[in-house]
Amino acid sequence: MTAGSLLIWAFVVAVALYASRWKRKPISEDNAGRFIFWGGVIFPVTVLTALLTYALWLMPWLRPFGDEEGTGVRVEIVGSQFWWHVVYQRPDGSSVISANEIRLPVGQRIEFSLESADMIHSFWIPALGGKMDMIPGRTNRLSLLATRAGTYRGQCAEFCGISHAYMAFPAIAMEPADFEAWLDRRSLASTGVWAANAGQELFLREGCGTCHRVVGTDATGSQPVGIAAGRTPASIAGPDLSHIGSRLTIGAALLDNDEETLARFIAHSASIKPGSQMPGYPNLTPAELREIAAWLKGLQ
Ligand code: CUA
Repeated sequence: MTAGSLLIWAFVVAVALYASRWKRKPISEDNAGRFIFWGGVIFPVTVLTALLTYALWLMPWLRPFGDEEGTGVRVEIVGSQFWWHVVYQRPDGSSVISANEIRLPVGQRIEFSLESADMIHSFWIPALGGKMDMIPGRTNRLSLLATRAGTYRGQCAEFCGISHAYMAFPAIAMEPADFEAWLDRRSLASTGVWAANAGQELFLREGCGTCHRVVGTDATGSQPVGIAAGRTPASIAGPDLSHIGSRLTIGAALLDNDEETLARFIAHSASIKPGSQMPGYPNLTPAELREIAAWLKGLQ
């Protein structure tokens, strides 16, 4: 299309130069009529028909795969003020829940189902393709293909409240084998491998488990296991923290993920991320914050 438009542009410029510089006298009405008919009707119709045919031919490949072809992982994402609920639906029927970070295999087209729990958000990974709105009450679909491994930035692209600009996420494109291994590790996590410790006890004592889920603990949150489970996205309260230690960022790409930022976010989330549903916990002592942060960071 670029080549074609360059050719046409060069032709139009040449005609304009010819008419304005070298042949500055009127042409006959017959010639003008023929010129308009061929140049203004037949030529564009031919070119646009050819381009449309080409685009229609490309389209099935760009479409999310249908049920008949559902061999890959589907990723369900629910936008919420101001974070992302992420569920990987695997072909074997199992699912892996995460939040605020998306992983996808290089070279495989992945279908995203996009919903919203509250306002209109917009799902956008500029390096990988176009944006798609997330609208309460409907499911939009988008398919993306990462051709190179790497970490890309995703961003909410629809103003959704005071912390809209802080509603982002890293999108990590991995080699397919690494991606499968990553999913396997998260699928097994439900066996609950973490010994109880002071950080976990504080987390539960403060009621964090009411909104946040951590598999293998009493923190069950209030999240659906994927949209397919038939529960409404509106029941989602807070991001799943089962593997928060392994994520690159916290607060939806707001801060790097380490024990210091985790402690800071827990104490002051209300001022770090204005308008978020999570209250700050300034009443916790620095030692208590460190215990919780260390436990969270250990959730790999
Ligand atoms: Cu969500 Cu802007």
